Amino acid sequence: MRHFLTLKDFTKDEISEIITLAQKIKAQTKDKHFVPYLERQTLGMIFEKSSTRTRVSFETGVYQLGGIGLFLSSNDIQLGRGEPMKDTARVISRMVDMVMIRTFSQDKLNEFASFSKVPVINGLTDEYHPVQVMADFLTMIEFGKVDNPICTYIGDGNNMAHSWLMFASIMGYELRIATPKGYECNSDIVAEAMAFAKISGAKIIISNNPKEAVKNSDVINTDTWVSMGQEEEKEKRVKDFNGYMVDENLMSLAKNNAIFLHCLPAYRDYEVSEETFEKHANEIFTQAENRLHAQKAIMVWLDNHRKSEEIR
Ligand code: CP
Ligand code: NVA
Repeated sequence: MRHFLTLKDFTKDEISEIITLAQKIKAQTKDKHFVPYLERQTLGMIFEKSSTRTRVSFETGVYQLGGIGLFLSSNDIQLGRGEPMKDTARVISRMVDMVMIRTFSQDKLNEFASFSKVPVINGLTDEYHPVQVMADFLTMIEFGKVDNPICTYIGDGNNMAHSWLMFASIMGYELRIATPKGYECNSDIVAEAMAFAKISGAKIIISNNPKEAVKNSDVINTDTWVSMGQEEEKEKRVKDFNGYMVDENLMSLAKNNAIFLHCLPAYRDYEVSEETFEKHANEIFTQAENRLHAQKAIMVWLDNHRKSEEIR
């Protein structure tokens, strides 16, 4: 049985297959043609952190596929009172057909998955946010960034940066990541990405130089400087990230028709200027909408895979 825990478990062809499915499902959705791919199925949605997009897109997505989403906040379920992850997994996965979890460490997610009888989807951990990058990929394609785009990520070496590392290194793209000193990506994850890059031909360039990184790029991407769980570090981080705001000066170094992506929520005049954000609002909000379509495809793909394994 396949889970969707990190992109490194997927081949380039599988990622492309899911995106092709997302395009088909998006077109059907726009035509108000709701195919019940997941009829009567239940998606358990466990949240140990806040969410707007992930919750709304998964809950709406599974409903449009003929199923139902159960919102399970850790504030309300026994997990939040200390029931072990592995027990939670063994209980919930006997009742639902698929689970999405947003939690802290990837290890916690992996533990859940290893005890789960049903496919598990990563709805964000401290290390990765793979469903977001699938929506980013769909958005890039829709904005014509398909021909070996040069992608650049400016900011914190966090879950988004790590997910982009996996994505670009598997797909064979050029990815430049510029972070302040001390906020670099996890070195093990960089090493894994470099190993993928050797196979795919991807070019991964890691630096502390945002201006150099942005030069001639097709896709510029950033994320908050203060991820969930890091709130106490805000004051120090804001100082340390001085010079890393994506603004019109920085964007002027990219290609003229470059797109700007942000997974959201965005903090104006910190990681992105108000002007740059609003100039690229169409890209950013298409990206947000694409969470719905990309995740529907992920759920259908996992379900198809499970069914084909059951037949075998
Ligand atoms: N981008 C994203 O995952 O948003 P939420 O935190 O609102 O789910
Ligand atoms: N890096 C951010 C992403 C939010 C969607 C966080 O983990 O809070």
